Amino acid sequence: MDCSTMTEIARGAEGSVYESTYLGKDAVIKVRAPKGYRVPELDRRIRSQRIRSEARLIREARSAGIRTPMIYDVDLTECRITMEKVGGVTVKSHLDEHPEEAEHICGLIGTNIARLHNSRICHGDLTTSNMLLTEDGQLCILDFSMGSAPVGVEGMGVDIRLLERGFNSAHPDIKDAYRFIIEAYCREKTDSEQVMTKVQEIKDRGRYT
Ligand SMILES: Nc1ncnc2c1ncn2[C@@H]1O[C@H](COP(=O)(O)OP(=O)(O)OP(=O)(O)O)[C@@H](O)[C@H]1O
Ligand SMILES: [Mg+2]
Repeated sequence: MDCSTMTEIARGAEGSVYESTYLGKDAVIKVRAPKGYRVPELDRRIRSQRIRSEARLIREARSAGIRTPMIYDVDLTECRITMEKVGGVTVKSHLDEHPEEAEHICGLIGTNIARLHNSRICHGDLTTSNMLLTEDGQLCILDFSMGSAPVGVEGMGVDIRLLERGFNSAHPDIKDAYRFIIEAYCREKTDSEQVMTKVQEIKDRGRYT
């Protein structure tokens, strides 16, 4: 299908997200656009590897019990993933409108990230714009383009540190709610103290380098 006839819903640094349909169902297509500054053959290989990795992590996270979009198709030639269009709003906009629900929503975030990490999956870009709150109140995690698996404590620590920075700058008025994420994370994550020690180490490293 030609992207020029589809409705674009987001454009990131690496590609675009379009609304479409797949076998009669509402779908979303995420496309990695070519980068003109790379040698074409190398560019195609990089883009197709990233698409493959993102689709694999979305599936692995789903198998680990996290709500992620169902993958309908992975096209390694066109470098695009066709997936279920998940109904709902981004956690970013939900928290902006309903800051009073921060404790509950942050609890969901912490529990789900712990599940990801218990399966040794690191997301790589844990922002509240990469999470949806579905109509039935579930947390759906999107955008595994920066993720990797299997990871160790360092990868998990980086995930949590980036989450903290992103959360505080995206939600300056409810900064305190970040601790609800960590409380829920520590309840669900095995050996959570190792990760939290690593987070502190990463912060100290940033401070002294
Ligand atoms: N499966 C989906 N269902 C509903 N909405 C989606 C879905 N996938 C993406 N979106 C919407 O599109 C936005 C952008 O998607 P995504 O975060 O995957 O791409 P991106 O940030 O542009 O990508 P990248 O960081 O890989 O360049 C999301 O914030 C969300 O609002
Ligand atoms: Mg994103």
